[in-house]
Amino acid sequence: MKITILTLFPEMFEDMLKTSVIGRALAKGCAEVELVQIRDFTKDKHRHVDDTPFGGGKGMVMKCQPVLDALSSVRTEGSHVIMMSPAGVKFDQQKAHEYAGKDHLIILCGHYEGMDYRINSHVDELVSIGDYVLTGGELAAMVISDAVIRLQKGSLAEGSTEEESHENGLLEYPQYTQPADYEGDLVPAVLLSGNHAKIREWRILQSLKLTEKMRPDLYAKHEFTEEELKILKKAAKEAE
Ligand code: ADE
Repeated sequence: MKITILTLFPEMFEDMLKTSVIGRALAKGCAEVELVQIRDFTKDKHRHVDDTPFGGGKGMVMKCQPVLDALSSVRTEGSHVIMMSPAGVKFDQQKAHEYAGKDHLIILCGHYEGMDYRINSHVDELVSIGDYVLTGGELAAMVISDAVIRLQKGSLAEGSTEEESHENGLLEYPQYTQPADYEGDLVPAVLLSGNHAKIREWRILQSLKLTEKMRPDLYAKHEFTEEELKILKKAAKEAE
């Protein structure tokens, strides 16, 4: 897949696109990222991309012309265009999978106080990464690109995303590594037992318990599998 990012600050993306899992995935060709400088499309002789808001008020608003010309230069029939905005729909793992399946994702990053509202009708979706306000859409676009690129075939070892938090609507079970005893803080004995059936059962139970405690909202809408129900019943009986 290809991700095109329209931004006034392409340099912000340089390190993330070179580093760690994402850097390797891009070097291997699992995905391609294109950065487009919106300012290159301004027809303003001072290269301005923003102006004061009609009706008055603080801050600057990004103008239609450079943004929409930048968008037209990269958009094709199969492109899916999202605009980063705190007023958008919330990004989650389901959306990451949806975008990961697209051939071409275009991410439009706003800056300043916002975008001219007329731009909204030219994009497919407004997307937010959470209920807080960032100074611009760039960090949000990085979050989305990371979540989408790591899902591309070849980015990670086969099967390594399957048991992660949010993949089955639950948080992931706790993980431990050496040493088994860290200053008296012990790794749960079951994980050292070599009994794979018991380890699986323990992990499912921990995943359920952790989700209930940390994310009651997810737990409330979770559709329990037969196996999960059996494990919960057994744990309840043992606790009697
Ligand atoms: N731009 C500013 N804040 C944002 C947010 N929370 N999500 C996406 N884009 C944004």
